[in-house]
Amino acid sequence: MFLVTGATGSLGRRIVRLLTQRDTPVRAFVRLSSNYRELELRGSQIFVGDLQIDKDINRAVDGVKYIISTHGYPGNPFAIDYRANIELIDRAKANKIEHFVYISVLGVDRENLNDPTFKAKKEVEKYLLRSGLNYTILRPAGFANNLLPLAERFRDTRGLYLLIGNPNNRLSIVSTDDLAKIAIDSVDIAAAKNQIFPVGGPDLLKREDIPGIFGRIFKLEPTIVNAPLFVLDALRAGLGIFDSQLQDSLGTVRTLLANEFFCTSEEIANLESVYGIEMESLESFLKRYLVKMN
Ligand SMILES: NC(=O)c1ccc[n+]([C@@H]2O[C@H](COP(=O)([O-])OP(=O)(O)OC[C@H]3O[C@@H](n4cnc5c(N)ncnc54)[C@H](OP(=O)(O)O)[C@@H]3O)[C@@H](O)[C@H]2O)c1
Repeated sequence: MFLVTGATGSLGRRIVRLLTQRDTPVRAFVRLSSNYRELELRGSQIFVGDLQIDKDINRAVDGVKYIISTHGYPGNPFAIDYRANIELIDRAKANKIEHFVYISVLGVDRENLNDPTFKAKKEVEKYLLRSGLNYTILRPAGFANNLLPLAERFRDTRGLYLLIGNPNNRLSIVSTDDLAKIAIDSVDIAAAKNQIFPVGGPDLLKREDIPGIFGRIFKLEPTIVNAPLFVLDALRAGLGIFDSQLQDSLGTVRTLLANEFFCTSEEIANLESVYGIEMESLESFLKRYLVKMN
């Protein structure tokens, strides 16, 4: 039995779907407030709880062989990204779990990123390494599904694209479906045991390439509006008066927009060889989903 936390998130959902397609038993940790009907219909075991409640984590781990931790919430990195994972690791140890797969983030090891979510993930990685559990830590780049709403807006505005920050910043967006497969396969592949992998797509992109990809898909000439980062800073400062959690979330968005997050071709080649996978390009991912949506 797998336990998947963050099962209603964009990655967690895909992991649960794939496990049920493979007829592998999976317990999906969900919140009562979330939409988990699809996961139920697919035959996963639904565990309703809150990761801020230790008792819920304790009960969710009972009888489980593998854990895939995908949950996150940039508005509350201490409680969700940090503390809930520490508790999950402790419970995993106490229950002699065979393998713990942790979804971290690319760039987590950079000292200069003073971002609470990145710091939380770094501390969780350190704790997991020291735990004595079998582990695989995946450090993904940005997920391809994040771009689907942007692509739809591009289509609906006949090619308008707002690019905040440096258009030359490099990134390697990962297919969220590939990442789901890699997370699951980590428990079976010997070469993935007790390893850390950066996970990105096959193409090293610049941020300004994204409207070009949208343009090719929709056969539209992009009109790029490039706004400087301080626009986001001003928005954050204003919102902070009303909502400090939203301000924190935007802080992580700022970290992502202000820096480069990409994998080297050697890292991708290693990933493909260990997992026996050919990583999907962003363009192919978007085409698959946008055709489905039309
Ligand atoms: N998205 C990216 O581009 C990206 C890039 C690199 C790394 N990552 C990391 O990858 C992981 C998955 O990302 P994602 O985009 O799939 O996340 P997501 O869509 O934001 O989903 C987060 C999940 O965490 C759950 N969650 C939050 N607070 C909870 C609580 N108190 N109790 C129980 N569940 C709770 C959410 O449940 P609800 O549905 O109830 O809200 C949701 O299922 C995260 O750890 C993220 O930091 C993401």
